[in-house]
Amino acid sequence: MAQKKVIAVVGATGAQGGGLARAILNDPAGDFTARVLTRDPNSDKAKELAKRGAEVVAASVDDVASLKRAFQGAYGAFCVTFFWAHFSPERELTNATAMAEAAKHSGLQHVIWSTLEDTRRWVPLSDNRMPTLMGKYKVPHFDAKGEADHVFTGLGVPTTILLTSFYWDNFIHFGMGPKKGPDGKLAITFPMGDKKLPGIAAEDIGRCAYGIFKKGSELIGKTVGIAGEHLTGSQMAAAFSRALGKEVGYNAVPPEVYRSFGFPGAEDLGNMFQFKRDFEEYFCGARNLGAARSLNPSLQTFEQWLGQNKNRIPLE
Ligand SMILES: NC(=O)c1ccc[n+]([C@@H]2O[C@H](COP(=O)([O-])OP(=O)(O)OC[C@H]3O[C@@H](n4cnc5c(N)ncnc54)[C@H](OP(=O)(O)O)[C@@H]3O)[C@@H](O)[C@H]2O)c1
Repeated sequence: MAQKKVIAVVGATGAQGGGLARAILNDPAGDFTARVLTRDPNSDKAKELAKRGAEVVAASVDDVASLKRAFQGAYGAFCVTFFWAHFSPERELTNATAMAEAAKHSGLQHVIWSTLEDTRRWVPLSDNRMPTLMGKYKVPHFDAKGEADHVFTGLGVPTTILLTSFYWDNFIHFGMGPKKGPDGKLAITFPMGDKKLPGIAAEDIGRCAYGIFKKGSELIGKTVGIAGEHLTGSQMAAAFSRALGKEVGYNAVPPEVYRSFGFPGAEDLGNMFQFKRDFEEYFCGARNLGAARSLNPSLQTFEQWLGQNKNRIPLE
């Protein structure tokens, strides 16, 4: 039997990396094995992955030496950064650079870099349609990721650039689920007008990444954008109404109102949704549903995702 190829998975105890680790573990006859990177090999999530057959190694994206050790001897790696753990685009760029350097050092044959657009290519800092944040960003949690694309390619790392989409899981974990308005009716709130938001089940990101690795070298040097569906706020609200059996409306607020909501990251997310609204054609076009489904035939629609997850969405 040919030796299995090791995929080192950053963030494997989290959403994106977890989806990839489970996709590899669920396919024991496949060509790959999962090496899970975690800061704490003794956590319940790490132990659960070990029990299912993953190799678990201690590493942090803040420590390039630990990444070099963790990538050693692997065939490939899935690389992702954790903006919402620290709210620092500079730290994301530093972390991405460390992963790219470790990948180069270890001679990896295929890296997937989970990224998003540097929105300043579309909305330069001088464009006042949205405020500049943190001195030099329009959408801080996008821009540094996009900036880091060049670090991987510049070092000559054989990379597939993976453009991800809004997780529908944000309705569970990120406080974005339906809320009661002054009229007592449930509604979801986005500053998207009648434009479409590409969305995806977080688990499907990792499954698409697995599909990319399975294609061998075909997608190295390419950018792959994925989504489960492109839906307007009204379409998502209608799907919620059907799934929950009670009316859920769509509250389309202007981006400046969303930015003023005051929760941590509200300005960043207000700018992000405005970018997706103002550049809908580009943004949806870059996230091809058919391509995502060909990488991951079990790709969920929003309705399917809601069917599985509606009871996990906190409702007032
Ligand atoms: N929410 C969305 O809609 C959305 C959409 C597209 C992209 N994104 C992006 O997705 C990224 C986060 O990915 P995710 O959602 O998969 O993360 P996540 O579910 O929050 O998982 C984070 C995992 O990463 C690990 N981690 C945290 N800090 C680490 C470090 N310094 N070194 C190594 N591992 C570390 C943790 O594992 P251990 O504790 O085991 O070390 C944790 O389990 C963010 O940058 C965000 O911008 C989010």
